[in-house]
Amino acid sequence: MNTAPRRSTPTLNIIGAGRVGRTLGRLWQDAGVFTLGDVAARSAASARAAVAFIGAGRATHSLTGLAPADVYLLSVPDREIAATARIIAAQPGLPEKAIAVHCSGALASQELAALGALGWRVASAHPALSFADPERAVAQFSGCLCGLEGDSEARALLGGVFTGIGARCFELAAEHKLLYHAGSVFASNFTTVLLDVALRAYRESGLDDATAMALLEPLVRNAIDNSLRLGPAAALTGPAARGDTELVARQAQAVARWDSLAADAYRPLSTLATRLAARSKR
Ligand SMILES: NC(=O)c1ccc[n+]([C@@H]2O[C@H](COP(=O)([O-])OP(=O)(O)OC[C@H]3O[C@@H](n4cnc5c(N)ncnc54)[C@H](OP(=O)(O)O)[C@@H]3O)[C@@H](O)[C@H]2O)c1
Repeated sequence: MNTAPRRSTPTLNIIGAGRVGRTLGRLWQDAGVFTLGDVAARSAASARAAVAFIGAGRATHSLTGLAPADVYLLSVPDREIAATARIIAAQPGLPEKAIAVHCSGALASQELAALGALGWRVASAHPALSFADPERAVAQFSGCLCGLEGDSEARALLGGVFTGIGARCFELAAEHKLLYHAGSVFASNFTTVLLDVALRAYRESGLDDATAMALLEPLVRNAIDNSLRLGPAAALTGPAARGDTELVARQAQAVARWDSLAADAYRPLSTLATRLAARSKR
């Protein structure tokens, strides 16, 4: 018989029970990683819905009177993190030692400075997944990459609790977080913006929606598949990659006659394409 005392699981308060808070709460609850304490949202109804989704915790819409916990997850929107940390730090009856973490991709653990000033360990943990639908995010979470940054003690605990729900963790430096996040903005958000510009250019050229979409789909799929398979330098095609500067200049003028903002994007993107092509030749 094993007579060693059972280590109790650490306690967790979730402050901000939206898409990320609910998803992580449910995953940690199902894996028995934490004992859930308070689950806070702005509205009482949202906090209750989060507790129902997670299957544990005490719903609250107030940050006063939170039960002490080992870990505080501040999964509020980015712009609310620092202010929320200050409100929590001003509450009476806080534990002497605790870990506070937020989930922003762009912001570093410095946002939690008010809690760090109490002697708490602070960190950020960015799970790189779209949490738009928590039920779906729970199902898709396994294998999710998670960037950790902050105090070493906090990173050690977070590495364990995120790995415990199937994440693959990697380390990020605080000073690089904005640039790291910009990488995802370029890859994900700007791809969508460029697809919209492409569709509008097709329509402006007289194509109907169905033809425009049919034209776009294989182009986009091939560009992404080849870039992921061969690397962007080897995958690049088009006039800038061929060094056809005259065509690039004439095309820039045609775009400018249609949409000056699209032309403002076309020119530096062509320069970046030319540099990428030069790298490929080297
Ligand atoms: N969404 C994603 O795909 C994703 C991916 C990776 C990382 N993240 C990061 O995760 C964090 C949370 O994002 P999210 O998408 O889960 O946000 P969200 O769905 O908008 O949820 C935010 C939660 O915070 C609550 N809240 C807002 N202001 C508050 C305040 N002042 N005090 C207490 N609670 C407050 C909201 O309450 P109500 O429910 O009552 O409105 C809501 O429950 C952000 O740092 C974000 O950058 C998001």
